[in-house]
Amino acid sequence: MSDDNLKRAAAEAAMQFVPEAAIIGVGSGSTVNFFIAALARGRLRIKGAVAASNATAELLGKAGIAIHDLNTIRQLPVYFDGADEINGQLEMIKGGGGSLTREKIVAAVAGSFVCMADESKMVAQLGRFPLPIEVIPMASRYIARELEGRGGRPVPREGFVTDNGNVILDIHGLRISDPVAFEEEINQIPGVVTCGIFGRRPADILLLAHPSGVEEFTRRDRT
Ligand code: 5RP
Repeated sequence: MSDDNLKRAAAEAAMQFVPEAAIIGVGSGSTVNFFIAALARGRLRIKGAVAASNATAELLGKAGIAIHDLNTIRQLPVYFDGADEINGQLEMIKGGGGSLTREKIVAAVAGSFVCMADESKMVAQLGRFPLPIEVIPMASRYIARELEGRGGRPVPREGFVTDNGNVILDIHGLRISDPVAFEEEINQIPGVVTCGIFGRRPADILLLAHPSGVEEFTRRDRT
């Protein structure tokens, strides 16, 4: 079964968590694109969506789903998104598509986070996938040096500008043993908009697609 078929299977399994007549949060990436296609096909009627990227907003619009401005909404019942890596605590690395900051904002407003992923995304420890960090352009060299000092190998994402007008550093070679502490540490560096660790706001539900079917995990709180 190809990765795309697994992503589609996870996205279709997420339909059971879409509340009728609600405004939902929608992330970005190829798994989310399958989710939007399933939403468009399904009989379930939502009131609309808050999009975590311009690309997602465009796709939702084409599917006839109303887009809402996050500033007009107090809370979203649920947020749907993919991940680049996810561990057993449902902590993630995100931002492979460069939308990490808006994804983190929309996820923060959501009561629950449903992550849809193919089985290749599950890891014992975060860090094999290069950690994306959105940075203010003038701070990028400084932040790269700070990350080198922490054992990482920063690679600027060439020719890429985020929806917020910033740039991305992809940090290779990290082994992230405490995602919450590392997220907080990196986010304190001046010029960092946010890093792609979702430790403070992990997923609540993971739908992990295998060739044999979609497995569902629910987050247990850290002890
Ligand atoms: C985009 C993201 C995506 O969720 C992540 O990159 C996974 O993408 P895909 O579903 O294409 O594998 O964080 O910023």
